[in-house]
Amino acid sequence: MKKITITDLITWKQQGQKFASLTAYDASFAQLFEQQDVPVLLVGDSLGMVLQGKSDTLSVSVAELAYHTRCVRAGSPNSLLMADMPFMSCTTPEQACTNAAELMKAGANMVKIEGGAWLAETVKMLTERAVPVCVHLGLTPQSVNIFGGFRVQGRDDEKAEQMVADAVALEQAGAQIILLECVPASLAKRITDTVSVPVIGIGAGSDTDGQILVMHDMLGVSANYMPKFSKNYLAETGDAREAVAKYVQEVANGEFPGPAHTFK
Ligand code: KIV
Repeated sequence: MKKITITDLITWKQQGQKFASLTAYDASFAQLFEQQDVPVLLVGDSLGMVLQGKSDTLSVSVAELAYHTRCVRAGSPNSLLMADMPFMSCTTPEQACTNAAELMKAGANMVKIEGGAWLAETVKMLTERAVPVCVHLGLTPQSVNIFGGFRVQGRDDEKAEQMVADAVALEQAGAQIILLECVPASLAKRITDTVSVPVIGIGAGSDTDGQILVMHDMLGVSANYMPKFSKNYLAETGDAREAVAKYVQEVANGEFPGPAHTFK
């Protein structure tokens, strides 16, 4: 796989070419994903759940994310690699810069931050200091205790309008990717059509520019449960490499996500 940059993702959005991405936490799987042409990898704070067996992501540290980012970068030199800013790591723009620097030095090409328009100043400061930012909207798992559980977001009109406004404000602040998790497909389409930066969805329907899945979910090995929006590709193919190849192909040809994986 050639070296992937944000310019490739923008071109794909403009051409209507859908792309797949996966979470990754170690060098072996990162290498396998790169060999199967997965252009975007995310070292997610989901590692707290799928690697550490916790019930949420809140306890994950910047040091843990930096460690796993180094591992993934070692296995995948060419993917566009995003690393999560964990819970309470960006309460101020200054704190965000200090913590983002650790992730960038570990090999990330971009950091991902959960939140809404209130993050605009942070996104601006990071971007001005050469840290590209992906903003995560919708079901932001670090807010699980505010939401009262892992629930679909943006179902009512007011929340939907707020999410569109957040996406626009954060793009204006400099965000280079928007990630939407567990939002109705119609809202995800509206946001994807409104912003000019690439939009990656998980549980957000088939109209986003890219898709992402937690690797343990798409291999059907998650300790907890299988989310409705995911698909067990290992069960379908019986081989990890074929599972990833099928996922990449089904995203590219629009087969995944189908209606069974989508919130109306
Ligand atoms: O932490 C993570 O793995 C994520 C994905 C669910 C997008 O944020």
